[in-house]
Amino acid sequence: MKIIGSFPNTRLRRLRKHKWIRNIVSENNISHNDLILPVFVREGKNKIETIKSMPGVKRYSIDKLDVILKQVKKYKIPMIALFPYTSFNKKDENGTEALNPNNLICRSLKTIKKKYPEIGVMCDVALDPYTLSGHDGIIINKKIDNDETIKILTKQALLQAQMGCDVIAPSDMMDGRVGHIRKMLDKNNFKDVNILSYAVKFASNYYGPFRDAVGSKKKIKIDKKTYQMDIRNSDDSYKEVALDLKEGADMILVKPGMMYLDIISKLKNQFKTPILAYQVSGEYSLIKDGIKNKLLNEDSILESIIAFKRAGACAIISYFAIDIAKKLVR
Ligand code: PBG
Repeated sequence: MKIIGSFPNTRLRRLRKHKWIRNIVSENNISHNDLILPVFVREGKNKIETIKSMPGVKRYSIDKLDVILKQVKKYKIPMIALFPYTSFNKKDENGTEALNPNNLICRSLKTIKKKYPEIGVMCDVALDPYTLSGHDGIIINKKIDNDETIKILTKQALLQAQMGCDVIAPSDMMDGRVGHIRKMLDKNNFKDVNILSYAVKFASNYYGPFRDAVGSKKKIKIDKKTYQMDIRNSDDSYKEVALDLKEGADMILVKPGMMYLDIISKLKNQFKTPILAYQVSGEYSLIKDGIKNKLLNEDSILESIIAFKRAGACAIISYFAIDIAKKLVR
């Protein structure tokens, strides 16, 4: 790119001198429409529980979901991402609870879609909340078995669709699962249910607080490197996205978000398809901690979100969604 003009004819500060002119020339803006809020649900009644590793984020029993959903509605957040905190006694080797039509996610979906049909709900397709190992798939001969896992995930996706889930979000990183899920949904007359594929999910160190939030944290760190992407790579992300789009994904997710803005930008340029970003739990907790310790100010939250838009994301899953929307919607 050739730079046009030179000093003193060109003074870049002329477009920065007042707030109104900065607003006129701004390339990216954040709106409540760009935000998705993760919501953690738990068993029991009348429970709103804080999560130690994620200050400000809470787990809600189904009867208390109104507290958070009223805010989602008030601040016009279009979609929530639902995650279950599964009690230890419901976990087993094969993550059987994932297919229980009366599990926490299914009951939550039914309640939410009945009371708040206008709020979009996305659900993870993966077994990690339900397996004793904390892995996203099932273990056969000491390996996470791709094809056997897909069989379960496909059923999990169908069950979620039957319960009213709007956006099925496979986050397991098994090969070929999007195609199988799409086929299963179509066959059962859920052809209009969306698939948001966690196509580009890195084996990141920034998921720690989330694993605590859904109760899948282990004493020894879980190694998901045989299925999640290598943090040193970007070539794989093109292949992952190309395959998932071919298999029927409507939207693509990059995760974590902040650490992988380069990937978002490359994918947006290449595919011209909706790319969403997940500002993950570790990224959230770091900023939150910085603010608490007065190393950062509140505006650092907005800065972290606008970065995703600049990179090319159309929407951001963020634990800050309500905090941000509060400032935008009055
Ligand atoms: C599970 C899942 C994870 C997250 C979303 N879905 C954790 C993992 O893969 O271990 C992480 C979200 C976050 O850290 O905020 N498949």
